[in-house]
Amino acid sequence: MRLTTTSLLLALAANGASANVLKRASDFAARQTRSLARDLRVAFGGVLPRSDSAQHVIYCKNPVSAGALAGDDSSGSASSAGSGSTSANASKSSTKKGAVAGTATGSGAATTATSAWHLTQSYAGSNFFDGWDFWDTDDPTHGVVDYLSQADGENAGLIQVNPAGNAVMKVETTPTVSGNRKSIRITTQKSFTGGLVIMDAVHMPTGCGTWPAFWSNGPDWPSGGEIDIVEGVNDYTNNQATIHTDPGCSLTTDDPAALGASASAVTGGTDCAAATSGNAGCGMRSPSSQSFGPGFNSNGGGVYAMQWVSSGISVYFFERDSVPSDIDAGAPNPTNWGLPMAHWPAADCNPWKYFNTHVAIFDTTLCGDWAGSVWTGSGIPGQEQSCATRTGFSTCEAFVQQSGGSFEEAYWEVKSVKFYNTTAAL
Ligand SMILES: *[C@@H]1O[C@H](CO)[C@@H](O)[C@H](O)[C@H]1NC(C)=O
Ligand SMILES: *[C@@H]1O[C@H](CO)[C@@H](O)[C@H](O)[C@H]1NC(C)=O
Repeated sequence: MRLTTTSLLLALAANGASANVLKRASDFAARQTRSLARDLRVAFGGVLPRSDSAQHVIYCKNPVSAGALAGDDSSGSASSAGSGSTSANASKSSTKKGAVAGTATGSGAATTATSAWHLTQSYAGSNFFDGWDFWDTDDPTHGVVDYLSQADGENAGLIQVNPAGNAVMKVETTPTVSGNRKSIRITTQKSFTGGLVIMDAVHMPTGCGTWPAFWSNGPDWPSGGEIDIVEGVNDYTNNQATIHTDPGCSLTTDDPAALGASASAVTGGTDCAAATSGNAGCGMRSPSSQSFGPGFNSNGGGVYAMQWVSSGISVYFFERDSVPSDIDAGAPNPTNWGLPMAHWPAADCNPWKYFNTHVAIFDTTLCGDWAGSVWTGSGIPGQEQSCATRTGFSTCEAFVQQSGGSFEEAYWEVKSVKFYNTTAAL
């Protein structure tokens, strides 16, 4: 998410980018006014794309051979065979690479390392909002939202910890607004470079006009990289996880299985660089219609995990009934989890070179560069008809302004966000 095609294009235009790059995003540009470029340069003067990414590498660890890494089970080795595994679900474990072969674990290092995952930070319960900053300036992705400070959010009833002990972040449901609708965007104060993030939610925002995300990004976008863990728009039912980077990070193939992912499709493309992909990034769509929006919510939500280790970055999704017992026990063991829904192997995208010093973010924007631009689109799972057809509004913005009751379901209800680390090499 964030600094999507429109803003990138305008920033590039303002900086004299090549015609080729500009052309890729031209249909987005057509919807925007040129004056935005000036605003963007002011807002993102420090984060505009650069052509010389190499000199900005900060964390350049020695490459570690695939398969020797903590908790990675998708490198193609049999290290996740999981013999003697306590995995709760036999049907799920049967999807693991190597499980059928039933060989002994291929890597003692992995076994040792995974036992070392330990909690480093937890956001949960009545103190959930401690340790997050509230973003209360303009939405960088041009949504029709006003993000509120913590105090304003509490006063407006848009944030609370509910009686179940879950953190709730809502969108304003006032029937009609003349400008923006109030919403919430929060960012962790602590940053991390590698590790394991596990987010458990029972509800997420959904419905025409919405564009929610749980994601992370680093400094000097896109130099520090961006990892979209949970993201989608409108009535989508299948999550799309995406990375955005500086030039140089890519996928060797657009075949998810060959990448070690259960995704139903690679979306966007195999060039993950913001500047040369029109900021589509490298996205992967979950095969589960319970992974996003209405399906996620009707199923009691679920758990997302993002693992960032030397072999690559992975996103896992577990439906509520299939959450591994090791997660529930607070002792996550990714080697028992089967295939991730998304995996970006280190082979073509060094996770220490293209990603560093991330903060985690929740937000819900409305319309903007993605939800607004596909308002008349259909054909994505959950979006068999366009939002224009479903709502009778020809524009996202008019719908958002005039249909406050439609945003009753546009809320996050989060049980916890937990960060884990390992004493072994990441
Ligand atoms: C295992 O997964 C299947 C399919 O997701 C589900 O129907 C079943 O209830 C699960 N069993 C356990 C023990 O979690
Ligand atoms: C894990 O430890 C590494 C090395 O100290 C650190 O860079 C990283 O931010 C930590 N990650 C988490 C999630 O705590």
